[in-house]
Amino acid sequence: MRMKRIACLMFALILLSVLSGCAREPAQEVSASPGSVVVGFSQLGAESSWRIANTASMVNAADSYGFALMMENANQKQELQIKSIRSFIASRVDVIVFSPIVETNWDNVLREARQAGIPVILMDRMIETADDSLYTAYVGADFYAEGRKAGEYLIRKADALGADHLNIVEISGTIDSTPMRDRQRGFMDVIGTDPRFNVIASISGDFLRSKGEECMADLLARFGPEGIDVVYSHNDSMTLGALDVMEQAGVRPGKDILVISVDGEADAVRALKDGRINCIVQCTPALGGSVMSLVQGLVSNRSIPRVSHPVEAVFSDFDDLTDPALEGF
Ligand code: AHR
Repeated sequence: MRMKRIACLMFALILLSVLSGCAREPAQEVSASPGSVVVGFSQLGAESSWRIANTASMVNAADSYGFALMMENANQKQELQIKSIRSFIASRVDVIVFSPIVETNWDNVLREARQAGIPVILMDRMIETADDSLYTAYVGADFYAEGRKAGEYLIRKADALGADHLNIVEISGTIDSTPMRDRQRGFMDVIGTDPRFNVIASISGDFLRSKGEECMADLLARFGPEGIDVVYSHNDSMTLGALDVMEQAGVRPGKDILVISVDGEADAVRALKDGRINCIVQCTPALGGSVMSLVQGLVSNRSIPRVSHPVEAVFSDFDDLTDPALEGF
């Protein structure tokens, strides 16, 4: 049985390497040793420093567990993720791991995985489905809690400043992705009923630095620097783009406009220490170890937790930021 599976895997690899010679297929990395556990991993893209660190975490963890990782990058396209999952099923991998770009429309392909008897672990993002048995486990952040933490920081800051009216603009992540939906919902659940806060615009920057720049330019053109008191940005990459645009417009981010961000990448932590960002809600990309320990549990027929959230902190201008250990990823 195992020999047959390895033969299938080898065939799939040869086919993929032939195909990659004649068409632009998503990049694939495999580090296989015969007989090892094979994990099919569909990463959603390379849109941010977070994503790049997350991919590295998966590769390193698979390596340290001695698992073969069959990895494909979907370049932000759901159809490519579905295609990858189908190729993992055809290759009869032991476990499928994927990070769904958006929450909807996964049921068909996940039914195919279930029919093939391959367990599925959702990594980083969730799916929306009426059939929870389509995946075995979820490993990733509690994005709703992250949104709440951003709102709680803002309330504390408004109290400290004695502010009675703050205009907020939101630069959100990819529409219909879990972090976009839940960071928005958590934030609004905390500040929504407080009359001091007025969300005047919410636009999507797709978690990309370049779009963070575009969004900020658009917001400054619409409201002017005086019309914006707070930027709530769903990730550091977009925030860093927005900071550049604010500064080019003569605005001092962190002072003239409060900036709240999410992730904790090194450049953003430096900006926090420099006073250009006021608050970063941490979202760790280091999920590989937890994922691979679940894979180990599954292939050893042990029961595994259904949901695993990493412990995450908040760093802000209320903290002592001089600790050299605080440096981000
Ligand atoms: O899903 C996690 C989010 O996706 C991170 O906050 C963001 O940086 C990434 O692109």
